[in-house]
Amino acid sequence: MRLIDRIRAKARSSIKRIVLPEGDEPRTIKAAETVRAEGLAEPILLAPESIAADAPRRERYAEALYELRKAKGLTEEAAAKLVSDPMYFGMMMVKLGDADGLVSGAVHSTGDMLRPALQIIKTAPGMKLVSSSFLMECPNRGMGEDGLLVYADCVVNPNPNAEELANIAVATADTARSLCGIAEPRVAMLSFSTKGSANHALVDKVREATEIAHSLAPDLLLDGELQFDAALVPEVAAQKAKGSPVAGRANVLVFPDLQSGNIGYKITQRLGGASCFAVLQGLAKPCNDLSRGCSADDIVNTVAATAVQGVHL
Ligand code: ACO
Repeated sequence: MRLIDRIRAKARSSIKRIVLPEGDEPRTIKAAETVRAEGLAEPILLAPESIAADAPRRERYAEALYELRKAKGLTEEAAAKLVSDPMYFGMMMVKLGDADGLVSGAVHSTGDMLRPALQIIKTAPGMKLVSSSFLMECPNRGMGEDGLLVYADCVVNPNPNAEELANIAVATADTARSLCGIAEPRVAMLSFSTKGSANHALVDKVREATEIAHSLAPDLLLDGELQFDAALVPEVAAQKAKGSPVAGRANVLVFPDLQSGNIGYKITQRLGGASCFAVLQGLAKPCNDLSRGCSADDIVNTVAATAVQGVHL
């Protein structure tokens, strides 16, 4: 069964309330109809007019937002204004338990969706960093886990340092396990060098991140630094990274920065013919971003993934 079908089946087993702050946008409206009809979640569509008519909740959310952000300089007036924006209203619904998760980004840019999520929902206990996993289903079933590969971080952190990169690696392995049902994540820390074939400060960062990740998760199968082909192709791995527990059979790929990660997933999608969608990891509650080029079906899939995040497949 395809990953998305497994996710949809899981979503049906426990209906979650997912708020859609872009509720007056045609693809979102169509997606909400499908989500409801297929019993994947209870969609909550927000629009400026519906919020304007709900003064009691706006007041409650404004007060809570002010308390949350006053130390950062937010005034009561500014908080009242912010919650008139469906994105902030939706985030406060999730924060206060009036919704279980949020999906947005068909209209808003990634930064405009991420910033309120980081400021309001914040990181989950024990997590230092929010990042993302891109779930890539490739036509070549010989790669990764029967064609499934998890890429990170392609969405959030522009230039993670070694410690942040290590945290991204461990969080992505967790997402591979919990959301994708991959029993044995095998994590490759990607670089333009394999096991010392090149020397550069950029490579040093990946080596250091590999060491830190080992100390954070000693039982995790993780290796670096590895080039893309050494990570995925057994013949190349046999030449360049003999004895590696990951090389040639990686199913989780950690890119050294956002430029390479974002470009890498788009190459896999556009030239490699992979189908894909992203989830955010490390947030205290599930909130997910869409691409502005998304279809109604992409929104449905992201709603289903949001509904099951944190639940093992
Ligand atoms: N994890 C946890 N918290 C974070 C993170 C993170 N990765 N990044 C920022 N924060 C927190 C900060 O600590 C701060 O919290 P505070 O206000 O409570 O102190 C808050 O978020 C805002 O931080 P800023 O530094 O002011 O926010 P910034 O302007 O740097 O924006 C953002 C953060 C939006 C994530 C930025 O790094 C960004 O734009 N990333 C790239 C997004 C993007 O364009 N992705 C590519 C396209 S997506 C695609 O193609 C699918």
